[in-house]
Amino acid sequence: MTTGLSLNFASDNVEGASPGVMEALLRANAGPAPAYGTDAWTKRVEARFAELFEHEVAVFPVATGTAANALALAAAVSPWGSCLCHVESHVADDECGAPEFFSHGAKLIGLAGTGCKLDAAEVERVLDRLPDHVKQMPAQAVSLSQATECGLVYGQDEIAAIGALCRSRGLALHMDGARFANALVRLGASPAEMTWKAGIDILSFGATKNGCLAAEAVIVFSPRLAESLAYRRKRGGHTFSKSRFLAAQLEGYLDADAWLAHARHANAMAARLSGGLARLPGARLAWPTESNAVFAILPRAIDRAIAAAGALYHPWSPRFLPEGIRVGEDETLVRFVTSFATRPEAVDLLLATAASEKW
Ligand SMILES: Cc1ncc(COP(=O)(O)O)c(C=O)c1O
Repeated sequence: MTTGLSLNFASDNVEGASPGVMEALLRANAGPAPAYGTDAWTKRVEARFAELFEHEVAVFPVATGTAANALALAAAVSPWGSCLCHVESHVADDECGAPEFFSHGAKLIGLAGTGCKLDAAEVERVLDRLPDHVKQMPAQAVSLSQATECGLVYGQDEIAAIGALCRSRGLALHMDGARFANALVRLGASPAEMTWKAGIDILSFGATKNGCLAAEAVIVFSPRLAESLAYRRKRGGHTFSKSRFLAAQLEGYLDADAWLAHARHANAMAARLSGGLARLPGARLAWPTESNAVFAILPRAIDRAIAAAGALYHPWSPRFLPEGIRVGEDETLVRFVTSFATRPEAVDLLLATAASEKW
């Protein structure tokens, strides 16, 4: 590649940290500070989250999304309980059993759903069929991903329907918000509207994919779920002695609404890419592009041409495609992810390369 443009669309975690986050880290590096969450940065970021969510919150910064999810689910589900989630959700499919491990054995029950989305009616149907017997693990939580692993964004009404069901059955509702900001700007909702007002009890607030170096936070709206979390985080090895550096990242991330600007940019780059791909002869979108991930069904010749030009992206599972859409013999389903750092010229170069392929 002679243009110097990166065609790396493999994920939003291939980028480094944003300048605002790095500057916040450098500022936090000047001189000593109290350890283990007693520092000024942590106090400030706790207050900032309470203001942002318009709610009293308990905040537990950690370094990975897997830790956030595993700790959140361990707080919500006992070792003999179960949690309903999508069968291809990150918690079920990409965390090497961390939620089961951190919860000392809770079970994840994987549900179907187009585009990795849970539907309240399907959740209810599965709940109704779970045997009520001491031999079975009782359902204690539901976990949904916002945005989903297929880039779809739940509407507030969809979350609220699952939230109401959870309330009526005494279940906790967890949101895996690894791409929380991308979903939020798409919806145009407030953080409160997309979470506790719709029935979310506990949130994995993602920040690494959208500009942090390594910082996420478990945000707890239901005080009962926060009781054990300080101990669980320490036992899980995620209580940083130099805690200020996790908090400083989150502060730099939230400062001047940089996180929202980043997400708007990433989503706009995805829309640019998705629009261009959809116009290519022979290509089509698998799911609508609602956040910063684009899922396209491409003729294999285009797939080969863009890969040969150095583009990086991933093949994807066709299991939960919308009804009526299938991947043909000479086609492939792939995922491209854009980020706060994606350049429009890179998107255009990818599209031009794809368009130049004669197939
Ligand atoms: C939906 C979702 N949840 C959580 C995560 C967090 O994963 P990690 O532990 O790699 O930070 C990811 C990362 O790919 C994700 O896509």
